[in-house]
Amino acid sequence: MMFRPGLALLSLFLAAACMAALPPASAYNTDEAKVGSLPLPDPLQFADGSRVRTAAQWMEKRRPELMELFAREMFGRTPLGRPPGMRWTVTSVDRAALGGKAVRKEVTLAFAEGPGSPQLHLLIYLPVQPVGVNRRSPAFLGLNFFGNQSVSADPGITVSKAWMRDNAEFKVVGNRATEGTRGVHASRWVVEQVVARGYATVTAYYGDLCEDRPEGLAAGVAGWAGTGSTEARAPDAWGAIGVWAWGLSRAMDYLSSDPEIDASRVAVHGHSRLGKAALWAGAQDTRFALVISNDSGAGGAALAKRNFGENVERLNLAFPHWFARAFRAYNGAEERLPFDSHTLIALMAPRPVYVASAVEDTWADPRGEFLATLHAEPVFALLGRGGLGRSSPPEVDRPVHGDALAYHVRSGKHDITPYDWAQYLDFADRVLAPGRRP
Ligand code: GCU
Repeated sequence: MMFRPGLALLSLFLAAACMAALPPASAYNTDEAKVGSLPLPDPLQFADGSRVRTAAQWMEKRRPELMELFAREMFGRTPLGRPPGMRWTVTSVDRAALGGKAVRKEVTLAFAEGPGSPQLHLLIYLPVQPVGVNRRSPAFLGLNFFGNQSVSADPGITVSKAWMRDNAEFKVVGNRATEGTRGVHASRWVVEQVVARGYATVTAYYGDLCEDRPEGLAAGVAGWAGTGSTEARAPDAWGAIGVWAWGLSRAMDYLSSDPEIDASRVAVHGHSRLGKAALWAGAQDTRFALVISNDSGAGGAALAKRNFGENVERLNLAFPHWFARAFRAYNGAEERLPFDSHTLIALMAPRPVYVASAVEDTWADPRGEFLATLHAEPVFALLGRGGLGRSSPPEVDRPVHGDALAYHVRSGKHDITPYDWAQYLDFADRVLAPGRRP
């Protein structure tokens, strides 16, 4: 191809202009002294100022009031539930996967009959049962960033064919996963460890649901649902996070029908932007028995009103497709938000929630994630569940596992590591034990 200096210069200019629109991370507050006093909306106060006094008032009135606010002002409304035409096909089963340590299944969900329907490709690993035993397994369900083949080097996993952001390190080339992407995120999934502890692990590529770029809302599930593009949609129409959360519920629909899964003991989890999606999925879908947010940060577990690290304006500028357009009204105006992440966490109550941070991940505001968990406690208490059992953040690598709330701040960077998983498994052993479901 002929080198065209004009075009090359133009694309360089456009790339620079895009970058210039976003201030550097250092432009955002990381000074605890600038956080000031923190007026947080009281989860147990109705919008009209009256008090929530009973569990029934919370469940029947205040919780729906907050759900409506989160849908209208932040995540956008979820326009549909389980589509009537949804079907699934088991596309592969290997009962001796991972050297005989697990059962691997692949299942494709199609949201409507006929060609053109978006599809979600589930990858499931189950513990191997002793001969003659047919115990249903509790499960961890979460979306992945680079396709199912990225979660394990297992050569039997089907490589994703969906659009993916190019990534030289992970061998995503020409917006497609290559064979080189196998197992690139294995450390984030520790499949063998999860299965050895008696849990199934279930995942799907988030891009099957909505490509993670502004164009994504015109395609995938949002395009199919006809809810409008990133800039041309109703102010309260859903964004990508809403679509990802919806997909988690559709995966749950499938799990509810799988005779090898105990659907009453499914934890929904996610890292970072997918942690934001896991929180919203857990709030909307009470079938999830445990909700885990790993380093979800701004727009997830971190308190927006602290204005520490990433803020609302930055979220909306860098990722205009993630939230409802209405959320942009809070750019630089976090004090006007009628809720914050503590009320998002409270929406799970009495179901348990685990929030985790990493100490070097100041962008996601570890302290704000702890405080949000703490300030959700009054709702858990009203519903008869204990909280963290302490009011100051714990030391690094000293997890706090309370009755229904858990928190840790791990050493190291923004990531999900075997250490994080070890804590989630320990907490799940207790809160997902058979018969423990609130
Ligand atoms: C960016 C973004 C965060 C997000 C993170 C991720 O850092 O600003 O909000 O959580 O990406 O998803 O890894």
